[in-house]
Order: sequence, then C-alpha cells, then structure tokens
Amino acid sequence: MYRTHTCGELRLSDKNKEVTLAGWVQTVRKFGSITFIDLRDRYGITQLLFSENLNEQLEANPPGREFVLQATGIVNERSNKNANIPTGEIEINISKFTILNKSALPPFTIQDDTDGGDDLRMKYRYLDLRRNAVKKNLELRYLVNRSTRNYLHENNFMDIETPFLIKSTPEGARDFVVPSRMNPGQFYALPQSPQTFKQLLMVSGYDRYYQIVKCFRDEDLRADRQPEFTQIDCEMAFVEQEDIISMFEGLVKRIFKDVKGVDYTEAVQHMTWEDAMWTYGNDKPDIRFGMQLCNLKFPAHSFTGKTDISSLINGEFAVFNDAETVVAIAVPGCSDYSRKQTDELTEWVKRPQIGMKGLAFIKCNNDGTYKSSIDKFFTEDKLKAIAGAAAAKPGDLVLIVAGAEERTRKAISALRMEMAERLGLRKADEFKLLWVIDFPLFEYDEEGNRWVARHHPFTAPKPNHIDIMISNDPVIKDASKYLEHPYAGIKANAYDLVLNGNEVGGGSIRIYQRELQEKMFAALGMDETEQQHKFGFLLGAFEYGAPPHGGLAFGFDRLCAIIGGSESIRDFIAFPKNNSGRDVMLDAPSTIDEKQFDELQIKLNMKS
Ligand code: AMO
Repeated sequence: MYRTHTCGELRLSDKNKEVTLAGWVQTVRKFGSITFIDLRDRYGITQLLFSENLNEQLEANPPGREFVLQATGIVNERSNKNANIPTGEIEINISKFTILNKSALPPFTIQDDTDGGDDLRMKYRYLDLRRNAVKKNLELRYLVNRSTRNYLHENNFMDIETPFLIKSTPEGARDFVVPSRMNPGQFYALPQSPQTFKQLLMVSGYDRYYQIVKCFRDEDLRADRQPEFTQIDCEMAFVEQEDIISMFEGLVKRIFKDVKGVDYTEAVQHMTWEDAMWTYGNDKPDIRFGMQLCNLKFPAHSFTGKTDISSLINGEFAVFNDAETVVAIAVPGCSDYSRKQTDELTEWVKRPQIGMKGLAFIKCNNDGTYKSSIDKFFTEDKLKAIAGAAAAKPGDLVLIVAGAEERTRKAISALRMEMAERLGLRKADEFKLLWVIDFPLFEYDEEGNRWVARHHPFTAPKPNHIDIMISNDPVIKDASKYLEHPYAGIKANAYDLVLNGNEVGGGSIRIYQRELQEKMFAALGMDETEQQHKFGFLLGAFEYGAPPHGGLAFGFDRLCAIIGGSESIRDFIAFPKNNSGRDVMLDAPSTIDEKQFDELQIKLNMKS
C-alpha cells in the first residue's frame, strides 16, 4: 500500500496514529538539525518533520521540489500552527521515507501566484495542472458535469453518442476536415455540433436526448472560444419554446445550487432581441447593472415604433448631424473625471477594436451645472435636456458616441461594459440570467447577396411567420433595399441564455417539415442538387414522421468559466489550445510523414 491517508486528510483527532503519505515535495526547509517538508497531493498539503536521525539518509538522497515522496510517521500536534490550511494543526514525525521518483527542477513554481508566464505554463501543462488554482477550476468543471447529468437523468434524458467523423453540417464556422484513406480524395468533417444527429434522434423517437460532447470549429479564437470545445447538447420532441426554456432554466438553477450553493429562485427575464439591441446595444447584455442606452438618433427601419428624439441633438455639430446613430449612456458618479481621464476614454473608443472617431461627454455636476466637450455647439439647456434623456443624475458622466448603426451600437455596448468593469459593477460572484428571444431568422450577406441563417438553417420561424416564408420568393432583387424584403422581418423561434453578459447557451425550435426546410435551404442560396448533396439524409428523414422538436446547447466550458468567476475558458479546460489554435505542449498541429501523405494520396500545394 502506497499510502494510508491523503495529504489533505489528517487532523488533530488523528494524533498519535501511524500514517503513510505519498505525494509531491512542495518545499524543503531546514532548521538546524531538523528538516520540514511540505508534501502535496490533490487533496492538500501536510507538513512532515524529519529529525536528526534521518539526516544521513536525507543528505545521501536529498529530496527536491516536485520529487515524489512516500513517508511514514506519527501524527503530532504542531507547536507552530498554520490556520490557513485544514491540516495546519498537525505534522507527521517521520520515521522512514522513500523517494519514489525524482523530479527535474520545474520551470516555474507550483503555486497559486506562480512565476510562470502563460506560454511556459501551457508547454508544461501537466505541471500547471498541479497548481491549486487550476485544480479548483477542473473540480468545478467536474461538479457542473455531474450536476448536469443528475438533473437530465432525473428528467428522462438519455445520453446518446453521435459520430465525430461526419459530413459537413455548416453552422457558420469553417469545418475541420479529415482525409479518408479508404476513400481517397474524400474527406470527413468534424462536427461543429451534433445538430442534425440530435434531430434525427427525435425522428427515431428518443424524445429527450443529451450529450456532453466535443464540438470542432475552425474560427478565429478569443478568450471565450476554443477550436474544440464542449457543449451540453440537448434536444426534446413534442415541445414548444416555453417547455425548453423552463426545462433548461431548471438545469442552470440546479447547477448554481449544486456547485455554488446559490438558490436562484427569481424568475429569469425574457427580452426580445430588438429590445436587447435598443436598450443595451448588444444581444447578450449584462443586466446586473443599469447604464441603459439613450438612443438619441437611430435608423427608423431598425427600430420600428420607437420615439424619435433626435431633435434634442439638432444643431451645429456636424458629427451628430452626419451620423446614422447617436447613443449615450450615463455613467454613475463620474462627473469628476479629469481631462486626463476623459482623454484616455476617448483614446479607448478610438482603438481599432472599437473603431469610433471620438467620444463626446457631458459632466452633470453636483451643483446643477453642465460641462461638456461639445458646449461649443449646445447651450447648457440643451446639454441638460440630453443628459435628462439619458436619465443622468447629478454627479453622472454622460458619454456619447456617433457613427454608423452597427459599429456605434457595438461601441457603446463595449464602453458600457468597460465602465461597469472600472466601477466594479461586474462582480464574479453575482449571477444574473437572461433569455434573449425573437431573433431575426435571417441576416443579409452583402457580398453573396443572399440570406444567411442567424442561428442555423434548421431553426424554425415563429409560427405566425411561416406563411411569410413559404409564400415569398427569397431572392433579393435590389440589394440596397434588402430591409424591405419580407424575409427581413421574419423572426426565429430561437432563444439564447445569457449569464452575466455572456452567451452560455442557444437553441431553437426546429423545422420538421420537408417543404419548409427546402424553402430555408433555398433562401440560403442552395439549389436542389446542393440541398440533396448536403442534407438529403435530413430531408429524407422528414418524410418519415418527424415529430415537432427543439433543443439547445450550452457552451459547457463557458458556463464553467463564468460560474467560476472568469471569462477565459482556457482556465477550465485541462489541455487547451492557445490563441493561434496551437497545443504548445504537444506542438500540434504539425507536419505528418511522407508515408501518411502517400497513403492518403494527398500532395501538398503550399502557397508560401
Ligand atoms: P451555438 O453555435 O450557439 O449552437 O453553440 C452553443 C453554445 O456553445 C458555445 N460555443 C463555444 N464555446 C467555446 N468555443 C467556441 N468556439 C464556441 N462556439 C460556441 C456558446 C454557445 O452558446 N447546434 C446549436 C445548438 C442548438 O441549436 O441546439 C449550436 O451549436 O456558449
């Protein structure tokens, strides 16, 4: 037996027991003739005391950092207790020990605040994983996994595996492809998600399916994206949107309870996509704080039925006059920002990622006066009216950006998040869920002069929009007037679950009739031959009694990261890739042998 206990287990109540521990050497400290070693394993750290009689052996074979050590001794009460660790009241008075394996000097310290940079830690990820901070993240991931499986099992869901070597089912990203040796010149694609398989399982009658499954997408990476990531993928038959929403809201609330001990009892707000864009400039708003947008000017076609208040900014200021969109937020308590601070904010919005030409501000001073970067163009009364429209209070700083609709809305939404971050309004341990519903079914692709599916091509329109879809020709005759096409107004029966400003899940009610699915494919620019080539299997299945169905998928890594108080999903993945999609530990991707190319009958044709 290698050990009788773990390094996190022993307490004062174990005093005088003889125990054997095995683990890694965290630190070695020598005090005169006595040596202390902190021994670490997955469960904690225990102090070992080596007295003089072991010195000869220690000197002959000195254990260094990260050596694997087995040690036997008696549990003693410590004279110098450490209240910071659960084993801090005891130490083990060692009588014998064995070095089970040596370790090279680790390239960084195995501690919470390690001296290792990101790249180095990823190269030696197996050492990084020994650190407590990373271990805690993986433990949380496991708890979320277990809680999910329990909840779905209790609700009759069946875990069914689906293949990884499949045919491309485009969902907006590029596919990773795998050449087939047995079928030269032909390729599999790795699934971007099991979307079509789970729909086929509904056709087969498995009316509640789930899978915690890898998905593969060759897309540009960010902190919340990985080329291979995990989804909690779910599908249900005989359901409407509300059934799915309540089932999976239940899942997330259960995870909060099981993993964080949080009772999330409040009803989750539902917000239409249009309201989210109008109020927050974003389809995944963080609603834990206010700073809602004041839409001073906006394109009428984007937001029908909203009151035009652009007269408030009419005047001599060409930037506002020429802009398609002018939006403002009132930042609480920042009217005392210095010139340096407002200059810095202006530079912030001018960065290429944000892309604004400038930033206007109004300081709503506590004495009732208004000071502004645009007071050359607007009287104090006008400034007061603008600030009033933005619901600014004395002491607030109103920030205004102007430009093209999409970019400006993105910019104000990013600025809102940035200011909330600076003001400490985005707290890691405060959770707020939101369902965003009623997305547009289509987006318009200017380059291809065609519609693209906003969610994916299997998403059904709202029931009362099906007729509009069936009875109109999807072709856009005049590209400049695409907004007037009946398809532009079609809303999807789709929903996203947003947690603290992050899209943690998304799904939809699906199309399950062949005719409507064909119409959808046609709208996306696929002729009959292409439809048959790519999705013949699905269209065929819809002819054999496909039930109404719908589902959703959670970004499992993302959900774990946010619950764990981080927005970087890499911290919650055992072996993640870096931002260039590389596994720096394996050094993958890499070249393959000539022989492998030969077998696959593939010849490289590198452009550079
Ligand atoms: P969707 O593409 O919205 O839907 O993906 C579902 C959720 O997966 C997460 N996600 C990612 N996480 C990490 N890295 C990525 N590259 C990445 N891409 C997406 C997000 C997202 O909300 N088949 C549909 C679901 C359905 O309709 O049922 C789908 O895959 O959190």
